[in-house]
Amino acid sequence: MTGAGDCNPAPFSAGQHAAARMETHKVPSIEKSHGSPRISFARPVSCRYHRSRSLFPGERGERSGAGVPEEETRDTTPMQYRFAHRMTCAPPSFLDRLFAVSKDPRIISFAGGLPGTRFIDVEGIREAASRVLGEEGRDALQYSTTDGYLPLREYISRRYRQRLGLSIPPQQVQIVNGSQQCLDLVAKIFLDRGDAVAMERPGYLGAIEAFSLYEPVFSDVALGSTGPDIDEFSRVIREARPKFFYGIPNSQNPSGQTYPLEARRAVAEVIRDSDTIFYEDDAFGELFFDGKPRPPVAGMVPDQAVLSGSFSKIIAPGMRIGWICAPPAVLERFNCAKQAADLHSNFLCQKILAAYLETHDLDVHVRRMAQAYGENCRLMCEILDDDFTPDISHTEPEGGMFLMVSLPPGLHSLRLFEEGLREGVAVLPGIPFYACGGGESTVRLNFSTTGEEQIHEGMARLARAITALR
Ligand SMILES: Cc1ncc(COP(=O)(O)O)c(C=O)c1O
Repeated sequence: MTGAGDCNPAPFSAGQHAAARMETHKVPSIEKSHGSPRISFARPVSCRYHRSRSLFPGERGERSGAGVPEEETRDTTPMQYRFAHRMTCAPPSFLDRLFAVSKDPRIISFAGGLPGTRFIDVEGIREAASRVLGEEGRDALQYSTTDGYLPLREYISRRYRQRLGLSIPPQQVQIVNGSQQCLDLVAKIFLDRGDAVAMERPGYLGAIEAFSLYEPVFSDVALGSTGPDIDEFSRVIREARPKFFYGIPNSQNPSGQTYPLEARRAVAEVIRDSDTIFYEDDAFGELFFDGKPRPPVAGMVPDQAVLSGSFSKIIAPGMRIGWICAPPAVLERFNCAKQAADLHSNFLCQKILAAYLETHDLDVHVRRMAQAYGENCRLMCEILDDDFTPDISHTEPEGGMFLMVSLPPGLHSLRLFEEGLREGVAVLPGIPFYACGGGESTVRLNFSTTGEEQIHEGMARLARAITALR
């Protein structure tokens, strides 16, 4: 495969690939220096743990109890855990560092990816939980079937028909443990080591992480305001013949881009002429600022698509309830993989959610959220246009929770990350969103968790950080 988007030269070499993946995803840190930043990477996932640490307190206790000073008996041989090869392909998560900084109250964080906590309807969920436990407590706390709670699957099926005119019977809806589980299980049922998989550039970090564990060869396709570059998309599909192309046509994470209708049609046409599956992740389709749903690509190629959705961004991520819709032959394999993974998703939560949705109008709820996110997004874009220099550009999201900023040449996003922290603002460098490398001059900004005042203050800090680096 020689297409522009191919990041692993054929023939595939597992070792090479693992090395390439780690190169891209080792946790980066910046060394202060002049000119362009010298990036030093944290060590990759290590198999070395120190046996003498308190991991084995019994062993230590026994030896020191034998009258020999502990210092002299400490076994310092590092344990060589024989991890599976696939773990060498797992990028250590950059998110741990981010998590730590986002807990610091002095920092305004645009780096996270949480939905606005103020939109989680605690009272409504409490009432639904108490109804479920009161009326059917024991049943709700029993094991259940792998495919999921039927009334919830019926609700999802009905909503597709009402919102999008899509006919997806409940039998083709499988409940999952958050749509993140779909990423793992779709990869598990389709990918053998060395298989080709394709996705957008930039693409969702959680997908890159999930797919990496199955040791595929990644190709990527540039995503812009007009959707995926269709020439590159056709070439990648034709030449790499990926098992699936993973895309987020609605308010993509990280870029905020939405495929226009023509792009959806063009993508569907290319897919139709191939034996590739289109894996459509629709985590944000309910959150268009104008409230108008966009037609899924999956509806245009129903036999060649899987479509995932989630209640995380619209009800509560902690419930861990998502779903996947797929052709019966795919769903059968998916169900089998899910059964092996966890038997079924949390049955109590499924019942609580179904009870909640019976008595609450989801349309009203998502309108409120989308409007608030829209206001925040517009404010951020206005500040970027008015108060930042013209060599800084940004995407123009129509929905969702993120936008992406392109930095001026020479300004490295990792240096901006560090300088931002010094100024008291956290942004997410684009690098981990590029399956095949790149993203040094991009940062992702989240607008779902901050209020107007924080956006003004955080963006002023960001502007100061950029000025300091020029
Ligand atoms: C595009 C996308 N897909 C999937 C997920 C996973 O979400 P969940 O497992 O909570 O449904 C996320 C989470 O942020 C996401 O942004």
